[in-house]
Amino acid sequence: MRTKKIWYTYFRKRIRSAKNENLYRSLPLFDTFQPGYLIRNGKRCLNLCANDYLGLAADSASQEEGRILAEILPAGSGASRLVTGNLVIHQELEKLLAEWKRSESALVFPSGYQTNVGVISCLAGRGDAIFSDKWNHASIVDGCLLSGAAFYRYHHADLDELAGLLKSKGGRKNLIITDGVFSMDGDIAPLEGLSQLARESGALLLVDDAHGTGVLGPDGSGSLAHQGIDWQDHILIMGTLSKAIGAQGGFICGSKTAIEYLVNYCRAFIYSTGISPWLAGVAHSNISRIRSDSSLIERLRTANQTLREALRDYGIPVPDSPAPILPILLGDSRRALRCSKALMAGGIVAAAIRPPTVPEGSSRIRLSLCAAHALPDLVKAARTLAKFIQSNPD
Ligand SMILES: Cc1ncc(COP(=O)(O)O)c(C=O)c1O
Repeated sequence: MRTKKIWYTYFRKRIRSAKNENLYRSLPLFDTFQPGYLIRNGKRCLNLCANDYLGLAADSASQEEGRILAEILPAGSGASRLVTGNLVIHQELEKLLAEWKRSESALVFPSGYQTNVGVISCLAGRGDAIFSDKWNHASIVDGCLLSGAAFYRYHHADLDELAGLLKSKGGRKNLIITDGVFSMDGDIAPLEGLSQLARESGALLLVDDAHGTGVLGPDGSGSLAHQGIDWQDHILIMGTLSKAIGAQGGFICGSKTAIEYLVNYCRAFIYSTGISPWLAGVAHSNISRIRSDSSLIERLRTANQTLREALRDYGIPVPDSPAPILPILLGDSRRALRCSKALMAGGIVAAAIRPPTVPEGSSRIRLSLCAAHALPDLVKAARTLAKFIQSNPD
């Protein structure tokens, strides 16, 4: 009775407050999805909010390969990698990732979220300092908080502020963290400047390249290669297998010594069952395909340019960017929700992104592109969006 009073009063109060502030979330349900499209109640809708940038998660060739792999690879690892859950496929995937990112070594985890939380809290601790871009992903923030290190958030991409903080607030060891491509805005971090600051101050630079991997740079190797920066041993590159790679899991690439340290001390790696061998196999096969078939990335680029040009033609100013994430800022969360509903009525799925995912007053529709999008559907989406904005001024 007392539990009911204390806990259920709390649950209901929090749910009511989310509803009152237009921040209530519920799980949208779909029958299934195809590359670039969702099936809802039997109807095919344009999917403008997935991170499956190359359409590999449900593409017929990848699925066929997945079926073959399912016959030879177990679905589960059965134990932590340090016990009996380390199979040859894990090692092969890590070798491929290290080579792709032009680093020495790699380690895979069951998810990208787990990678960030685990790696960051293992790298830094009490007495150390972390300097994190204000727009970094929530999994980075959670890793920083868990670490117990002093935690400073510099204004987005502000290298001068970061340089000042490194001088005045530096700890025993310093860690700089940035997204490579920022997940809610689609802009690319100033990696050359960040790498230089890290090198000069003796810090490590951790780049979360969840949204650059498989998308940017020659053969999709990511944001650093896109900016012509070679990996060096003061850099760690994090990524996920769950976005352009079309599987599931996370990874970290770096020097042999840094990875050896993580294998020995990273609790999120040590105390968790190894990533599914089957998923590791699917990821391996998809990465090999991304590297050998440049038409995937080219189709994504064309889709990206088409949507940006169509939006401009309909009077919505958007910058050019090679990143396949395009925010349409709408301000308050109610307007963003209404816009998402209007798009849905036109057979277009684009989620309203609201606080706390983005700062108060910057609710938006976050559009993300897929190599499999049909170009006329993107033009239609731009027209529907423009119609909403014209008839619903802020
Ligand atoms: C920048 C960034 N880092 C990390 C993650 C977490 O990756 P995963 O979805 O594989 O857990 C995400 C995914 O939303 C992300 O956008």
